Amino acid sequence: MHHGLIAIVGTGTGIGKTHTTCALATALVARGLQVRAYKPVESGVVDGFAEDIQALASVSNAPQRGPTELLLPDPISPHLAARRAGATLDLEVVIAGLEALRQEVIVLLELPGGLFSPLTETALPGDLLARLRPEATVLVAPDRLGVLHDLGATTRAAKADGIALTGIVFSAPALADASTGFNAPEVGKVSALPVLANLPRRTVAELAKTDEVRALVSKLLGDDAAALEA
Ligand SMILES: Nc1ncnc2c1ncn2[C@@H]1O[C@H](COP(=O)(O)OP(=O)(O)O)[C@@H](O)[C@H]1O
Ligand SMILES: [Mg+2]
Repeated sequence: MHHGLIAIVGTGTGIGKTHTTCALATALVARGLQVRAYKPVESGVVDGFAEDIQALASVSNAPQRGPTELLLPDPISPHLAARRAGATLDLEVVIAGLEALRQEVIVLLELPGGLFSPLTETALPGDLLARLRPEATVLVAPDRLGVLHDLGATTRAAKADGIALTGIVFSAPALADASTGFNAPEVGKVSALPVLANLPRRTVAELAKTDEVRALVSKLLGDDAAALEA
């Protein structure tokens, strides 16, 4: 049976990480795999309804839930929202839970914000990735003007911090601009990372059935992440 950990990080917030993760989970489940899509902390939770965490749970088929989920009301960076709420995200609990879960099922770990947004008072997403060493780490980026800068900056900073990125997934923005559809071929000017997929604007269910997402799944389960083939 297939198991392991795939991290989904982004160049920023509101750029398609959850949507991409949900589509990936749906496609993996359709291949008969056991999947848990999980996000350790969500800010901007209104009336106890954590939109992302609920969406990720709804496409997961693994019986186990995530290790711990911190829900925070203020719609700001998780570290700031936690400070305001007097709460703490215990990364040791998250790590222990994920290490157990990844032995059993495929875990899709969405990290909030951008790759260099503070996760807690003392940790960046890269600190969590350094401990977990996922089988693959996908960098989601919006297919819009400005993304080449964000990809160049993120790739360079990731390299400086020793964060291993597998490749880039472009997510179509709600409003296309003149660059949309033309960014992927230019990535080589700013980053050595491969473009793994170019996702169109679709519902999660529709997206999961596209050739782009099917090919992405094959790449993540195949040569790019051989360790997932247990
Ligand atoms: N490829 C896509 N097709 C349709 N809607 C999308 C797509 N990517 C993102 N969205 C929508 O855009 C909004 C922001 O995306 P989301 O995945 O929540 O971003 P993030 O997790 O990076 O904050 C959500 O409403 C989401 O459903
Ligand atoms: Mg999200």
